[in-house]
Amino acid sequence: MPAIAVVGAQWGDEAKGHIIDLLAGRASLVVRCQGGPNAGHTVVTERGTFRLHLVPCGALRPGVRSVIGHGVVVDPFGLLEELDTLAAAGVELSSLLLSERAHLIMPYHRRLDLLEESARGEAAIGTTGRGIGPAYADKAARAGLRVCDALSPSGRKELQRAAQRARRLIRSFDDGAPGAPDAPNPNTDPVDPVEEVDRYVEALERLRPYVGDALTVVHDALDRGETVLLEGAQAALLDLDAGAYPFVTSSCTTVAGALAGSGIPPSALTGTIGVYKAYPTRVGMGPFPSEMDAETGSRVRKIGHEYGATTGRPRRCGWFDAVTARYSARLNGYSAVALTHLDVFDTFPTLRLCTGYRLRGERIDRVPPLAADLAACEPIYEEMPGWRQSTAGARRAEDLPRAAGAFIARVEELVGVPVALVTVGPERDEAVSLRPLL
Ligand code: IMP
Repeated sequence: MPAIAVVGAQWGDEAKGHIIDLLAGRASLVVRCQGGPNAGHTVVTERGTFRLHLVPCGALRPGVRSVIGHGVVVDPFGLLEELDTLAAAGVELSSLLLSERAHLIMPYHRRLDLLEESARGEAAIGTTGRGIGPAYADKAARAGLRVCDALSPSGRKELQRAAQRARRLIRSFDDGAPGAPDAPNPNTDPVDPVEEVDRYVEALERLRPYVGDALTVVHDALDRGETVLLEGAQAALLDLDAGAYPFVTSSCTTVAGALAGSGIPPSALTGTIGVYKAYPTRVGMGPFPSEMDAETGSRVRKIGHEYGATTGRPRRCGWFDAVTARYSARLNGYSAVALTHLDVFDTFPTLRLCTGYRLRGERIDRVPPLAADLAACEPIYEEMPGWRQSTAGARRAEDLPRAAGAFIARVEELVGVPVALVTVGPERDEAVSLRPLL
């Protein structure tokens, strides 16, 4: 029963899409496990570049079945838009399966996300504004609606009830008056709930052909001994439990979340691939101890095209951080590492790696739980020479410059897990295999 998880190992945007796409051809099923349209997985294929938010990257490989698991929160409008874009590009989607148990993002979740962010003021998280936090909050409060609930005979009534509840919540943002009475407010209550529910039902009806029993499909595939790829979204430091709370996303982004969100038992897991970028990046607010200075950061951003695939926001760029990297490896137990974007350093004379933090004069090598402490951590760097030559054409280990090999070996040593694959560009073939990934 081989299930292999691919998860983000730093702060997200490690190019998991590229790695999943490379592996998808060897799987029969690819399951997206958690998160929602906050994710933006970029995959470059012969047919063009695709930015996927909810559809698993496996959908781009003919013959591979893709599943949106029950751990994902789904925005029907966003999903339909994505399906239309893919269909227009000639991607065959008839085998896509949306779990009937997946929770729905409602229009008011997006509104609540934005209202909560503005209420936080300077302490804003910098969310993607896609309604992720409020949708998962409703799920945990057992006030959410799943795909099967909304498509059931009583679906419309349940949607209306949920919209009414949301109106009360939204009004509680008015003038700090919790549970304010039912007077319309043009700022926070712009949408007629009946009209909203009608549009929503219409979108869900369009999705109905894709909806099904994903759990049984995944379990049957495992019983037949097929390879199932678990596609993680976001990354370890954004994990709701173990990440840099509160500057995190609202789902479990580690391998534990991949299992929970797909319904696969741990005993089926035969490998976990941690995807690291040669330099971590972060979007949104919150501490980022190894953040580069403005000049270096903007150089990396320019070379690496570091702008959010979902929001277009410029990403903050940092030096490889061994403290968070090891933390993530211990949380996930990687069997192998994929190191991406190595080519971005091709012109750099010197590279830095953060090997520890100094907090209030003391050296630490763990991730402190308090955001204020993590923000106060000063990085301790070691330097390595760059290679100052192009790695873009490298396809075998021997093609890599010696200094690049030394950098990879140091990353391997610091993380404590073998680096099996390195990418040197976004195209499908721009990768160097150092060891088998699976
Ligand atoms: P949310 O997931 O939209 O609630 O955003 C919470 C935090 O997670 C913010 O800092 C976002 O920028 C970050 N985040 C969410 N999804 C991604 C992603 O796919 N890549 C990188 N950061 C993300």
